[in-house]
Amino acid sequence: MGKYLVAVILAVVSTKCWGQTVTIGQGTLLGAERTNRAGETYYSFQGIPYASPPIGDLRFMPPQDPITWNDTRNATSDLPACYQENENGVVVGQEDCLYLNVYTPEIPDDDNTDENLKDVMVFIHGGGFNQNSGGEDLFNPEFIISQDIVLVTINYRLGIFGAFNIDNSSEYTGNLQLKDQAFALQWVQSNIRNFSGNPESVTIFGESAGGASVHYHVLSPMSAGLFHKAIVESGSAIAPWTVGIENSGTQSGIGYPIVEQAYENQTAFLTEEPLAIIESGDYNKVPMIIGYNDAEGVAFYPRFANISDLIPADLNLEVGSDEESALIQKIEEFYLIAANTTSNNTAIINLYTDTYFAYPAYRAATEHLKQTNSSIYFYRFSADTNLNVYKLRFEDTAAFPGATHADELGYLFNTTMHYNITGTIENNSVEDLAITRLVTLWTNFAKNGNPTPDDSQGFEWLPITEDAFNYIDFGSNETTVGVNPDSERLQFWNDVYNAGIINQPSLMIMLSVSLLVIKINLFSN
Ligand SMILES: *[C@@H]1O[C@H](CO)[C@@H](O)[C@H](O)[C@H]1NC(C)=O
Ligand SMILES: *[C@@H]1O[C@H](CO)[C@@H](O)[C@H](O)[C@H]1NC(C)=O
Ligand SMILES: *[C@@H]1O[C@H](CO)[C@@H](O)[C@H](O)[C@H]1NC(C)=O
Ligand SMILES: *[C@@H]1O[C@H](CO)[C@@H](O)[C@H](O)[C@H]1NC(C)=O
Ligand SMILES: *[C@@H]1O[C@H](CO)[C@@H](O)[C@H](O)[C@H]1NC(C)=O
Ligand SMILES: *[C@@H]1O[C@H](CO)[C@@H](O)[C@H](O)[C@H]1NC(C)=O
Ligand SMILES: *[C@@H]1O[C@H](CO)[C@@H](O)[C@H](O)[C@H]1NC(C)=O
Ligand SMILES: *[C@@H]1O[C@H](CO)[C@@H](O)[C@H](O)[C@H]1NC(C)=O
Ligand SMILES: *[C@@H]1O[C@H](CO)[C@@H](O)[C@H](O)[C@H]1NC(C)=O
Ligand SMILES: *[C@@H]1O[C@H](CO)[C@@H](O)[C@H](O)[C@H]1NC(C)=O
Ligand SMILES: *[C@@H]1O[C@H](CO)[C@@H](O)[C@H](O)[C@H]1NC(C)=O
Ligand SMILES: *[C@@H]1O[C@H](CO)[C@@H](O)[C@H](O)[C@H]1NC(C)=O
Repeated sequence: MGKYLVAVILAVVSTKCWGQTVTIGQGTLLGAERTNRAGETYYSFQGIPYASPPIGDLRFMPPQDPITWNDTRNATSDLPACYQENENGVVVGQEDCLYLNVYTPEIPDDDNTDENLKDVMVFIHGGGFNQNSGGEDLFNPEFIISQDIVLVTINYRLGIFGAFNIDNSSEYTGNLQLKDQAFALQWVQSNIRNFSGNPESVTIFGESAGGASVHYHVLSPMSAGLFHKAIVESGSAIAPWTVGIENSGTQSGIGYPIVEQAYENQTAFLTEEPLAIIESGDYNKVPMIIGYNDAEGVAFYPRFANISDLIPADLNLEVGSDEESALIQKIEEFYLIAANTTSNNTAIINLYTDTYFAYPAYRAATEHLKQTNSSIYFYRFSADTNLNVYKLRFEDTAAFPGATHADELGYLFNTTMHYNITGTIENNSVEDLAITRLVTLWTNFAKNGNPTPDDSQGFEWLPITEDAFNYIDFGSNETTVGVNPDSERLQFWNDVYNAGIINQPSLMIMLSVSLLVIKINLFSN
């Protein structure tokens, strides 16, 4: 009895000395108190284990329940990155990496009621399923947290550790990266209330591979009920680049999801092609924001200067085939690329933007619309300021106008990518206002399922309908509303997909002959 009392007193005293703590089923966490950009207090709890370390016997296995602890766990250090080769070719991170960070404006007190719970946003990082982490260096919460949101950033296994699968093996079915993410979402359901978060209002958002991940969760039965709204930034489960390699157990250098084989009595993440799932109408129908950046391709220029490499793989055109040549010629003519040169930067950048990002986003939105009455909001991000963090890292990409891949992240998160570029962001500068504009739309959506629930933004962002493909263009100084973004270019790809190039080669050959004639005329000088 005496011992017990002493322990209780010590616990109380140490809680006081140690600052902010939160207790969850796994044990007690010590967090840190911080200040957001409006000067208000918030709390961070970092490096929380949401699954067992996937090491030893658990390597390549689906995520398992996390550890518990008896002493208070110090959760003031950022989560460790997963094992990966970074962009300089250096191996960093560790296999024991299934951790997440929680940032909250408020720690619940003992008599906290459900009425005070805050809307939750869970961010899934990008990096081609091979790189990056949910760490604060890249995804600092201070912009989003100022809108009274509970923010969670997560890690998931990368590369072969997240993708390992063996054909016809019920044990190694693959999609560990997405199963990790779903496991983290399950953790959020069980625990976020203890950080003042509302488990019934969870918005998942992500960019690039993270955007594709969000879309995969929309499609997966494993993620059903684990989230309520979704923001898909510059990525799509129906973009060919997000599809992985089967039997990856025998190959290396890949991290992408696959269509799993179905096994009796076993829950798979995904057992059908993403497009077929959308068309079946059998998926998690939640309100969505979907969009792309106007100059996505700048980030990749000039890595893919070969048009053949830019033809979407889901068109199933054999390299060097007549059908492929016909399409290449059609592309060259449409995008105004001179014959056999790739010197027209803008054309290649537009082509990259369209085939990798804009068209898959547009196509996903239109296919979902056929199946659901849940709102689908579409955006085109074109802001070009000192916050375009990705583009501004390099002189050659910085020279192009527009917003490239990942540039919108600089408006959602204070990232280390900022620091060399901007210095201080002055109050009421274009950058400062743009952060507030974008964060307000995203967090409004997280709170209401509608990014413009009232007229305080000065415009109304309408969802797409059968009659009007509504969208917003998020520019540097203002947001404009319109219909049919980049309409000619997206229509071009719509025609290519709908023309059944694969099924009607003879038509394409005819087309190619006529295009060749046109092209010779165009470029003969
Ligand atoms: C988590 O919070 C709930 C109420 O929100 C509370 O009932 C429960 O005791 C908390 N868990 C722990 C382990 O303290
Ligand atoms: C926590 O304490 C219990 C009871 O003393 C003990 O059985 C258990 O092993 C401890 N757990 C850890 C992770 O130390
Ligand atoms: C928690 O960890 C941080 C960072 O490692 C350290 O500075 C701090 O002293 C630790 N707090 C406690 C109470 O151990
Ligand atoms: C997997 O099973 C299918 C159907 O039985 C078979 O065609 C295929 O060769 C098998 N793959 C491997 C790698 O064993
Ligand atoms: C699946 O579960 C059912 C019911 O528990 C059982 O009868 C069947 O044998 C299981 N199948 C396999 C392949 O484990
Ligand atoms: C373009 O890529 C295709 C497929 O990778 C290849 O066969 C072709 O030789 C390449 N063309 C040029 C000009 O590099
Ligand atoms: C096409 O490529 C060939 C071989 O590289 C080159 O000699 C020729 O000048 C190119 N034509 C044009 C129009 O760029
Ligand atoms: C380059 O491509 C862009 C976009 O297709 C087009 O507007 C421009 O006229 C082209 N320039 C040349 C020199 O072909
Ligand atoms: C949308 O709602 C209308 C009216 O309730 C209904 O007739 C229609 O079937 C719904 N469409 C879809 C795709 O669910
Ligand atoms: C981002 O964080 C850095 C480092 O803490 C700080 O200097 C900078 O002012 C922050 N930027 C914004 C826009 O708040
Ligand atoms: C910023 O500059 C520092 C020192 O010059 C350098 O070490 C760091 O890598 C740079 N960061 C970025 C994101 O370029
Ligand atoms: C945005 O506003 C700033 C300051 O008012 C101005 O300098 C800049 O040219 C504007 N940019 C655009 C794209 O309109």
